[in-house]
Amino acid sequence: MSAAATSLNHSGPMNTSYDGCMFSKTIAGIAVLTLPLSCAFGQTSTAPPTVVAGIPVNYDEALVGTYALPDPLRLLNGKPVRDAKTWNNERRPEIVHLFEENQFGRSPERAAEMAFDVFDKGTPAFDGKAIRKQVTISFSKAKDGPKMDLLIYLPAKAAKPVPLLLNISFSANSVTVDDPGVKEGEVWNRDKKKVPGKQGFAFGKVNVVPLVEAGFGFATVYYGDIEPDFEGGLPYGVRQLYLKPGQTQPAADEWGAIAAWSWGLSRALDYLETDAGIDAKRIALFGASRLGKTVLWTGARDTRFAAVIACCSGEGGAALSRRNYGETIAHLTAPGRFPYQFCANYAKFAQHVDQLAVDANLLVALLAPRPLLLQTGDKDYWSDPKGEFLAAVSAGSVYTLLGAHGLETDQWPAAGTPIMHTLSYYMHAGGHGTIPSDWNQFLAFLQMHLKP
Ligand code: GCU
Repeated sequence: MSAAATSLNHSGPMNTSYDGCMFSKTIAGIAVLTLPLSCAFGQTSTAPPTVVAGIPVNYDEALVGTYALPDPLRLLNGKPVRDAKTWNNERRPEIVHLFEENQFGRSPERAAEMAFDVFDKGTPAFDGKAIRKQVTISFSKAKDGPKMDLLIYLPAKAAKPVPLLLNISFSANSVTVDDPGVKEGEVWNRDKKKVPGKQGFAFGKVNVVPLVEAGFGFATVYYGDIEPDFEGGLPYGVRQLYLKPGQTQPAADEWGAIAAWSWGLSRALDYLETDAGIDAKRIALFGASRLGKTVLWTGARDTRFAAVIACCSGEGGAALSRRNYGETIAHLTAPGRFPYQFCANYAKFAQHVDQLAVDANLLVALLAPRPLLLQTGDKDYWSDPKGEFLAAVSAGSVYTLLGAHGLETDQWPAAGTPIMHTLSYYMHAGGHGTIPSDWNQFLAFLQMHLKP
């Protein structure tokens, strides 16, 4: 294994768990610097495991079973939703609440004690094509309390406020982009210690230049600045700031790590709203894998975000849980895997997915009528690309109700064939993560909807 692979820190105790992208990350760690725009993981596809955490995994379409999805347009009391008003005032809040209570957990409002320290006020970067800014966002008054570095690039030539893509990364900001002027952040290593960013791994690198040349700003944060990605991370992240006296763990319906990362993205937006060079009404989010789940939940909760691109979010993200294919809630919440990423209530549905009042179709529907691009890979069996497509098909009724365009087809497209409407779907030929050519689709999607 390469250094990049051995320093992977985001997957929890990998010796006992399957991480769908471990091998491809290794490859991306080597290949990433040579790629034209960006590479998150790469596209190696290894034979998917048939048993994970002692639980069998199904990859046979004939065995996915039959299921009835919760209807996006029917209230829990059985009343149909026939207009935008009932959606916005009744069904939408009901669904948000159900996801909070049963899957991601409730998160607090904006931090009362938050402070912004703009330590880089605008420095030319990338041969003068961009202006770089860096901000530390502190989440509490304590000097050694949790804080997040936000790195921002704006097109140098912009004459008016620009739309922007906000990325949440597995790497420190100094590793996410190729710019020697970026403060070297720290990352969590596998021993649950903070180490210099370059000792982490370098996938998810973004080539900022094509974005700024197209008139977009770009900003990024390291997810571990907000909350560590391991069991037992609670004392080191933002969630501990909100424990009530005597409380040692969040309650069963309170935030897991994904909701914490998501909350941090909202705090990044709080800052972006104060920058006159940015049009805060045109900010899109991007994240991959568990961070794909994170950006979906963020767009669902926080309607200030104008658009979302979610890469391979899979189970717990855009893939239908009721469809027994690839990872299931039981795999996600198995001890030693990722239960800490969700609220404790989520594990109750590991054996009873039919009792969960929500499914991924409702998560997708919460984005309506805002633009959403689901990017998947046809060999990423573990995260069930077809399950993501079917969730989007079902959510289409909400887009239509709100006067926007859903996928407008129920035929799963072949790899390499984008469906680009307000609700969009693109499956590359390959495995887990984002490959360089996906960025052409991202750019087309952003141009179509955020009009730089
Ligand atoms: C694991 C996990 C997935 C997750 C992925 C990732 O494969 O099972 O649910 O999306 O890691 O974040 O890379």
